[in-house]
Amino acid sequence: MQIPNTDTIVYVNGRLVRKSEAVISIYDSGFCHGDGAYEGIRLYDGKVFRLEAHIRRLFEALTMLDIDPGVDQAGMIKIVRDTFAANELTTDLHMRLQVTRGRKRMTGMNPMLNLGPASIVAFVDHKPPIFDKAGITLITSTLRRASPNVIDAKIHHTNQLNQILANIEANRQGADEAIMLDDRGFVAETNSTTMFCVKDGVLMTPHPTYIVVGITRGILLQMAVEEGWGAKEADLSVYDFVTADEVFICGTVGELVPVKAIDGRALKGPIPGPVTVRLMEKYRALTRAEGTAV
Ligand SMILES: Cc1ncc(COP(=O)(O)O)c(C=O)c1O
Repeated sequence: MQIPNTDTIVYVNGRLVRKSEAVISIYDSGFCHGDGAYEGIRLYDGKVFRLEAHIRRLFEALTMLDIDPGVDQAGMIKIVRDTFAANELTTDLHMRLQVTRGRKRMTGMNPMLNLGPASIVAFVDHKPPIFDKAGITLITSTLRRASPNVIDAKIHHTNQLNQILANIEANRQGADEAIMLDDRGFVAETNSTTMFCVKDGVLMTPHPTYIVVGITRGILLQMAVEEGWGAKEADLSVYDFVTADEVFICGTVGELVPVKAIDGRALKGPIPGPVTVRLMEKYRALTRAEGTAV
């Protein structure tokens, strides 16, 4: 068995270096203000899963943030492939590809204080899917996911305090993740993943309004169509999840994970339920079959 070298190779502004030696300026906009955008990307058996979709979403966020990354999408794809290729491990690698507004002349939020090129960093970690696939527990956070008139959650930005504060609530209550509601009281997503439930054979997920529009989410909605199941985006409250036949969360970093309890209430079994199991199998098969070779 290969022993993973956890001192991976990462990319920092044009250089490939060991993770333990990677540095960036304290005046970087990402460090000072969380001013940037990112993607979480996975490598399966030497192939990057849904690379173009991740790069497209990253560039959409950069457009909204008025950050010019200094490379086009093809250039960014090359950075991702070259960085993964520089690592000995070929699977269970997770990359956080992050672009910030770059270095500042002095601290201060005004982008006019920025000196020049954006910073591009590709963190690479040996990170198998992070949640327990036997089932996780959720609590409902007291904090709301930002509405588009505060900061549009569609912008996959690096300023994650809203979700980190919710994550702290989950930690304090011994749960794995926190459900975040929107400002009307409907479920948006968990602090780091998309939510789904199944009721009477219909797969349901919140509207793409107060959420990061997940790539995994899109894949699963498509799979439901392929399976001939009903699938819909809807306004769903905690009631719908607590009383559902099946609940699961999903995202690139953890894949699909069944939920076994919400706010201390045990959910209906079996866990995972049959629809979740089928989707877990299909998703796994897709990640093995598809991808951009590094
Ligand atoms: C808040 C949030 N929700 C959902 C997701 C899942 O998105 P994806 O399926 O594209 O990984 C992410 C991923 O970073 C996220 O940060």
